Amino acid sequence: MENPYAPIQAEVVDVIQENSAIKTLVLKPPKPIGFRPGQFVMVGMPGVGESPFGISSSAFEQDTFDISVQIQPHGKNTTALHNARPGDIAIVRGPLGNSYPMDYFKGREVYVVGGGVGMAPMRAVLLALLHEASQYKRIVLRYGARNPELRMYKDLCLSWETDPRIDVVYTVDVADESWRHNVGVVTTIMRETDIQDVPNAVAVGCGPPIMLRFMVPVLLKMGFKPEHIYFSMEKNMSCGVGMCGHCRIGTYYVCKDGPVFTYDQIRDFPDAWT
Ligand SMILES: Cc1cc2nc3c(=O)[nH]c(=O)nc-3n(C[C@H](O)[C@H](O)[C@H](O)COP(=O)(O)OP(=O)(O)OC[C@H]3O[C@@H](n4cnc5c(N)ncnc54)[C@H](O)[C@@H]3O)c2cc1C
Ligand code: FES
Repeated sequence: MENPYAPIQAEVVDVIQENSAIKTLVLKPPKPIGFRPGQFVMVGMPGVGESPFGISSSAFEQDTFDISVQIQPHGKNTTALHNARPGDIAIVRGPLGNSYPMDYFKGREVYVVGGGVGMAPMRAVLLALLHEASQYKRIVLRYGARNPELRMYKDLCLSWETDPRIDVVYTVDVADESWRHNVGVVTTIMRETDIQDVPNAVAVGCGPPIMLRFMVPVLLKMGFKPEHIYFSMEKNMSCGVGMCGHCRIGTYYVCKDGPVFTYDQIRDFPDAWT
C-alpha cells in the first residue's frame, strides 16, 4: 500500500509574485494528491528542509495545487521557495490534516474572514464555495491586509467586487492614495447586518493569532454559535503527522486534529491565541 506521508517530487510550473513578501508557487505532482479545502502540505526545496503551507487553490482542480509563501526574515525554507523557478522540483508531503466541512456549510451563509497571509487557505475555501455557489445560501468575504501593496490575489479580489455570487468588503490598516476601500483593522468591517440568518450561519477565519483573538468577540456579538466559528490554526511543526508533539494546542495536535478547529474546541486553550 502507498504511504500517504511519503515525500513526492512536484514540478514548480509557475511562480506568481503576489506582493513584495509573498509568492504563489503552482506545483504539479506526478498524480493528483486529492486535497480538500483547509488541508496543508509540507513543502521544501531539495536539501533545504520543509515547512507547512496551506493549500490555496481550488480542490476542483487537482492536476496542480498552489501554495502562497510569505518570506520570513532569515527563514531558510521560505527563502529557498522564493528562489524557486519554473521547472525546479519541490519535495512535498501531504495533503495533511483535516479540512473544512463543506457539506455541512451547504444551505448556510458562509462568512469568510481573512487577514494577511491567512488569506491563502481562505482562497481555497472561497474557490470551492464559488464553484458550487448555488448550494450555499450566501458567500461573504471580509479581507484585511496591512497596506494595499501587501494584499494577495489582487486580480481575483478585483473580480469578486462585481461578482454577484459573493459579497466582499476589503480593508487595510494603512492606506495610500490609490485605496478606494475601508481603512482600519479587519474587525472594523465586520457588521451584524452582514449576515441574515445568523443562528444557521458559519464563520471561517484565518490570520495572525492576534487577529483571531480580536475577531472572536465580534463574531460572538454578531450571534455566531461557538461551534459554527471555524479557524485555520498555525503552530510551529516538525513531523506534520502527530508524532513529535511540536504543534500542540491544549490536548490537540494542529497537524493531525487540525489545522481546522471550531472556536468551541479551542476556546479554553491559551496557547491557541499566542
Ligand atoms: C498549518 C500551517 C499552515 C501554514 N500556511 C502558511 C501559508 O499558507 N503561507 C505561509 O507563508 N506560511 C504558512 N505557514 C507558516 C510557515 O510554515 C512558516 O513561515 C515557515 O515554516 C517558516 O520557515 P522558514 O524555514 O523560512 O523559517 P524559520 O527559519 O523556521 O523561521 C523564520 C521565522 O519565521 C517564524 N515562523 C516559523 N514558523 C512560523 C509559523 N508557523 N507561524 C508564524 N511564524 C513562523 C519563526 O518564528 C522565525 O521568526 C503555515 C504554518 C502552519 C503550521
Ligand atoms: S508537527 Fe509533529 S505532532 Fe504535529
